[in-house]
Amino acid sequence: MSFKEKIDINRLPRHIAVIMDGNGRWAKEKGKLRVFGHQNGVKAVRDTVEAAAELGVEYLTLYAFSTENWNRPALEVTALMELLVATINKETKTLMENNVRLNAFGDLKSLPSKCYKELMEAIDKTRNNKGLTLNLALSYSARWELIQMAQKLAQQVENKELASTDISEDVVSSLLCTAGMPDPELLIRTSGEYRVSNFLLWQIAYSELYFTDIFWPDFRREQLYEAIANYQGRERRFGKTSEQVI
Ligand code: IPE
Ligand code: IPE
Ligand code: MG
Repeated sequence: MSFKEKIDINRLPRHIAVIMDGNGRWAKEKGKLRVFGHQNGVKAVRDTVEAAAELGVEYLTLYAFSTENWNRPALEVTALMELLVATINKETKTLMENNVRLNAFGDLKSLPSKCYKELMEAIDKTRNNKGLTLNLALSYSARWELIQMAQKLAQQVENKELASTDISEDVVSSLLCTAGMPDPELLIRTSGEYRVSNFLLWQIAYSELYFTDIFWPDFRREQLYEAIANYQGRERRFGKTSEQVI
Protein backbone atom coordinates (compact mmCIF):
# COMPACT_ATOMS: atom_id res chain seq x y z
CA MET A 1 0.00 0.00 0.00
CA SER A 2 1.43 3.36 -0.94
CA PHE A 3 1.49 6.16 1.59
CA LYS A 4 -1.03 8.09 -0.46
CA GLU A 5 -3.66 5.40 0.08
CA LYS A 6 -3.04 5.59 3.82
CA ILE A 7 -3.97 9.27 3.94
CA ASP A 8 -7.39 10.16 5.33
CA ILE A 9 -8.36 13.06 3.09
CA ASN A 10 -10.83 14.33 5.71
CA ARG A 11 -8.09 14.83 8.29
CA LEU A 12 -5.47 16.60 6.22
CA PRO A 13 -3.30 19.19 7.91
CA ARG A 14 -4.56 22.56 6.71
CA HIS A 15 -1.07 24.03 6.87
CA ILE A 16 2.25 22.26 6.28
CA ALA A 17 5.59 23.99 6.84
CA VAL A 18 8.87 22.65 5.44
CA ILE A 19 12.50 23.36 6.27
CA MET A 20 14.06 22.36 2.98
CA ASP A 21 17.55 21.30 4.04
CA GLY A 22 20.46 19.28 2.65
CA ASN A 23 21.00 20.72 -0.84
CA GLY A 24 24.70 21.29 -0.23
CA ARG A 25 25.36 17.82 1.17
CA TRP A 26 23.36 16.22 -1.64
CA ALA A 27 25.63 17.93 -4.18
CA LYS A 28 28.81 17.19 -2.24
CA GLU A 29 27.94 13.48 -2.17
CA LYS A 30 27.88 13.62 -5.96
CA GLY A 31 31.16 15.50 -6.16
CA LYS A 32 29.40 18.65 -7.36
CA LEU A 33 29.27 22.25 -6.21
CA ARG A 34 26.65 23.29 -3.63
CA VAL A 35 24.74 25.31 -6.21
CA PHE A 36 24.04 22.08 -8.13
CA GLY A 37 22.15 20.95 -5.05
CA HIS A 38 20.09 24.13 -4.98
CA GLN A 39 19.27 23.73 -8.67
CA ASN A 40 18.02 20.21 -8.05
CA GLY A 41 16.05 21.36 -5.03
CA VAL A 42 13.71 23.12 -7.44
CA LYS A 43 12.38 19.75 -8.66
CA ALA A 44 11.52 18.82 -5.10
CA VAL A 45 9.71 22.13 -4.63
CA ARG A 46 7.66 21.60 -7.81
CA ASP A 47 6.64 18.06 -6.89
CA THR A 48 5.79 18.97 -3.30
CA VAL A 49 3.71 21.98 -4.33
CA GLU A 50 1.80 19.95 -6.93
CA ALA A 51 1.14 17.12 -4.51
CA ALA A 52 -0.01 19.45 -1.71
CA ALA A 53 -2.29 21.32 -4.13
CA GLU A 54 -3.76 18.07 -5.48
CA LEU A 55 -4.48 16.72 -2.02
CA GLY A 56 -6.27 19.89 -0.98
CA VAL A 57 -3.82 21.22 1.61
CA GLU A 58 -4.69 24.90 2.13
CA TYR A 59 -1.28 26.36 3.06
CA LEU A 60 2.26 25.24 2.34
CA THR A 61 5.08 27.32 3.82
CA LEU A 62 8.56 26.68 2.47
CA TYR A 63 11.64 28.01 4.25
CA ALA A 64 13.69 29.07 1.24
CA PHE A 65 16.24 31.52 2.66
CA SER A 66 16.86 32.52 6.25
CA THR A 67 18.14 35.80 7.65
CA GLU A 68 21.23 33.83 8.70
CA ASN A 69 21.76 32.51 5.16
CA TRP A 70 22.99 36.00 4.16
CA ASN A 71 26.20 35.03 5.99
CA ARG A 72 27.05 32.32 3.45
CA PRO A 73 29.82 32.94 0.89
CA ALA A 74 28.80 35.74 -1.49
CA LEU A 75 29.02 33.41 -4.48
CA GLU A 76 26.44 31.03 -3.02
CA VAL A 77 24.12 33.88 -1.98
CA THR A 78 24.26 35.35 -5.49
CA ALA A 79 23.66 31.96 -7.08
CA LEU A 80 20.65 31.36 -4.81
CA MET A 81 19.14 34.75 -5.65
CA GLU A 82 19.63 34.17 -9.38
CA LEU A 83 18.08 30.75 -9.07
CA LEU A 84 15.14 32.28 -7.26
CA VAL A 85 14.52 34.80 -10.05
CA ALA A 86 14.80 32.14 -12.75
CA THR A 87 12.57 29.71 -10.86
CA ILE A 88 9.80 32.18 -10.09
CA ASN A 89 9.82 33.19 -13.72
CA LYS A 90 9.67 29.64 -15.01
CA GLU A 91 7.29 28.21 -12.46
CA THR A 92 4.53 30.83 -12.57
CA LYS A 93 2.91 28.72 -15.31
CA THR A 94 2.93 25.63 -13.06
CA LEU A 95 1.40 27.68 -10.26
CA MET A 96 -1.40 28.87 -12.55
CA GLU A 97 -2.06 25.32 -13.79
CA ASN A 98 -2.37 24.12 -10.21
CA ASN A 99 -4.49 27.05 -9.04
CA VAL A 100 -1.78 28.01 -6.52
CA ARG A 101 -1.69 31.47 -4.97
CA LEU A 102 1.85 32.60 -4.29
CA ASN A 103 2.71 34.59 -1.21
CA ALA A 104 6.06 35.55 0.29
CA PHE A 105 7.16 36.82 3.67
CA GLY A 106 10.34 37.89 5.38
CA ASP A 107 12.51 40.95 5.04
CA LEU A 108 11.66 41.07 1.34
CA LYS A 109 13.09 44.55 0.86
CA SER A 110 16.54 43.11 1.50
CA LEU A 111 16.30 40.94 -1.63
CA PRO A 112 18.06 42.12 -4.80
CA SER A 113 15.64 44.41 -6.67
CA LYS A 114 15.27 42.04 -9.64
CA CYS A 115 14.33 39.26 -7.29
CA TYR A 116 11.84 41.41 -5.46
CA LYS A 117 10.26 42.58 -8.72
CA GLU A 118 9.87 39.04 -10.14
CA LEU A 119 8.39 37.90 -6.88
CA MET A 120 5.82 40.70 -6.77
CA GLU A 121 4.86 40.03 -10.38
CA ALA A 122 4.28 36.33 -9.73
CA ILE A 123 2.31 37.12 -6.57
CA ASP A 124 0.16 39.50 -8.54
CA LYS A 125 -0.40 37.02 -11.40
CA THR A 126 -1.53 34.27 -9.06
CA ARG A 127 -3.55 36.41 -6.66
CA ASN A 128 -6.98 35.20 -7.81
CA ASN A 129 -6.11 31.51 -7.60
CA LYS A 130 -8.27 29.74 -5.08
CA GLY A 131 -6.35 26.53 -4.39
CA LEU A 132 -3.24 26.09 -2.27
CA THR A 133 -1.56 29.17 -0.81
CA LEU A 134 2.18 28.78 -1.19
CA ASN A 135 4.17 30.88 1.26
CA LEU A 136 7.84 31.39 0.51
CA ALA A 137 9.78 32.41 3.61
CA LEU A 138 12.54 34.54 2.16
CA SER A 139 15.12 36.44 4.14
CA TYR A 140 12.98 35.29 7.02
CA SER A 141 13.68 34.39 10.60
CA ALA A 142 11.22 34.01 13.43
CA ARG A 143 13.12 36.39 15.69
CA TRP A 144 13.03 39.01 12.95
CA GLU A 145 9.28 38.42 12.64
CA LEU A 146 8.74 38.65 16.41
CA ILE A 147 10.64 41.93 16.57
CA GLN A 148 8.47 43.35 13.76
CA MET A 149 5.42 42.22 15.69
CA ALA A 150 6.67 43.81 18.94
CA GLN A 151 7.39 47.09 17.17
CA LYS A 152 3.89 47.19 15.65
CA LEU A 153 2.34 46.42 19.03
CA ALA A 154 4.37 49.12 20.74
CA GLN A 155 3.36 51.59 18.06
CA GLN A 156 -0.34 50.78 18.47
CA VAL A 157 -0.09 51.17 22.25
CA GLU A 158 1.83 54.42 21.83
CA ASN A 159 -0.89 55.70 19.47
CA LYS A 160 -3.51 54.64 22.01
CA GLU A 161 -5.12 52.35 19.40
CA LEU A 162 -4.63 49.41 21.74
CA ALA A 163 -4.47 49.01 25.51
CA SER A 164 -1.56 46.89 26.69
CA THR A 165 -4.06 44.73 28.62
CA ASP A 166 -5.79 43.90 25.31
CA ILE A 167 -2.71 42.13 23.95
CA SER A 168 -3.79 38.53 23.41
CA GLU A 169 -2.73 35.49 21.42
CA ASP A 170 -5.07 36.60 18.65
CA VAL A 171 -3.59 40.10 18.57
CA VAL A 172 -0.04 38.72 18.38
CA SER A 173 -1.00 36.20 15.66
CA SER A 174 -2.63 38.94 13.62
CA LEU A 175 0.66 40.88 13.51
CA LEU A 176 2.80 37.98 12.28
CA CYS A 177 3.63 37.09 8.67
CA THR A 178 1.06 34.29 8.83
CA ALA A 179 -1.82 36.56 9.89
CA GLY A 180 -5.16 35.02 8.97
CA MET A 181 -3.69 31.55 8.40
CA PRO A 182 -3.97 28.54 10.68
CA ASP A 183 -0.78 27.51 12.48
CA PRO A 184 1.01 24.63 10.76
CA GLU A 185 -0.18 21.32 12.15
CA LEU A 186 2.85 19.63 10.59
CA LEU A 187 6.46 20.81 10.29
CA ILE A 188 8.79 18.76 8.11
CA ARG A 189 12.58 19.06 8.12
CA THR A 190 14.75 17.11 5.71
CA SER A 191 18.43 16.09 5.84
CA GLY A 192 18.57 14.53 9.30
CA GLU A 193 18.97 17.77 11.25
CA TYR A 194 16.86 18.04 14.38
CA ARG A 195 16.41 21.75 14.88
CA VAL A 196 14.09 24.56 13.84
CA SER A 197 16.72 27.10 12.76
CA ASN A 198 14.71 30.21 13.61
CA PHE A 199 11.59 29.18 11.68
CA LEU A 200 8.03 30.13 12.74
CA LEU A 201 8.77 29.94 16.47
CA TRP A 202 5.37 31.26 17.58
CA GLN A 203 3.35 29.32 15.03
CA ILE A 204 4.89 25.89 15.70
CA ALA A 205 4.08 25.93 19.42
CA TYR A 206 1.86 22.86 18.91
CA SER A 207 2.98 21.59 15.51
CA GLU A 208 3.81 17.94 15.00
CA LEU A 209 7.48 17.73 14.04
CA TYR A 210 8.57 15.29 11.36
CA PHE A 211 12.22 14.68 10.56
CA THR A 212 13.52 12.68 7.64
CA ASP A 213 17.11 11.83 6.66
CA ILE A 214 16.46 12.39 2.98
CA PHE A 215 18.21 15.40 1.44
CA TRP A 216 15.84 18.02 0.03
CA PRO A 217 16.68 17.46 -3.70
CA ASP A 218 15.49 13.83 -3.30
CA PHE A 219 12.21 14.78 -1.62
CA ARG A 220 9.18 13.92 -3.74
CA ARG A 221 5.41 13.58 -3.33
CA GLU A 222 5.83 10.09 -1.89
CA GLN A 223 7.84 11.55 1.00
CA LEU A 224 5.15 14.18 1.54
CA TYR A 225 2.49 11.45 1.66
CA GLU A 226 4.65 9.52 4.12
CA ALA A 227 4.95 12.56 6.39
CA ILE A 228 1.19 13.22 6.29
CA ALA A 229 0.38 9.57 7.00
CA ASN A 230 2.80 9.64 9.93
CA TYR A 231 1.18 12.83 11.22
CA GLN A 232 -2.26 11.27 10.99
CA GLY A 233 -1.09 8.35 13.11
CA ARG A 234 -0.28 10.63 16.04
CA GLU A 235 -2.46 11.63 18.94
CA ARG A 236 -2.57 15.41 19.43
CA ARG A 237 -3.44 16.07 23.04
CA PHE A 238 -2.83 19.81 23.49
CA GLY A 239 -2.10 19.31 27.15
CA LYS A 240 -5.10 17.09 27.83
CA THR A 241 -5.08 13.41 28.68
CA SER A 242 -5.41 10.71 26.08
CA GLU A 243 -8.90 9.81 27.39
CA GLN A 244 -10.07 13.37 26.86
CA VAL A 245 -9.15 13.54 23.20
CA ILE A 246 -10.35 10.20 21.84
C1 IPE B 1 19.04 24.13 2.15
O1 IPE B 1 20.16 23.39 1.88
C2 IPE B 1 18.92 25.37 1.27
C3 IPE B 1 19.15 26.63 1.96
C4 IPE B 1 19.40 26.79 3.24
C5 IPE B 1 19.11 27.85 1.15
P1 IPE B 1 21.58 23.79 2.43
O2 IPE B 1 22.22 24.72 1.48
O3 IPE B 1 21.49 24.27 3.83
O4 IPE B 1 22.35 22.39 2.38
P2 IPE B 1 23.27 21.75 3.51
O5 IPE B 1 22.47 21.78 4.78
O6 IPE B 1 24.49 22.59 3.61
O7 IPE B 1 23.53 20.37 3.04
C1 IPE C 1 17.56 26.45 7.41
O1 IPE C 1 18.59 25.70 6.86
C2 IPE C 1 17.15 27.53 6.46
C3 IPE C 1 16.51 27.10 5.23
C4 IPE C 1 16.15 25.88 4.94
C5 IPE C 1 16.22 28.14 4.29
P1 IPE C 1 20.11 26.00 7.23
O2 IPE C 1 20.92 24.97 6.54
O3 IPE C 1 20.44 27.41 6.96
O4 IPE C 1 20.09 25.78 8.80
P2 IPE C 1 21.27 25.43 9.82
O5 IPE C 1 22.33 26.45 9.60
O6 IPE C 1 21.74 24.07 9.49
O7 IPE C 1 20.62 25.50 11.15
MG1 MG D 1 21.51 23.36 5.62
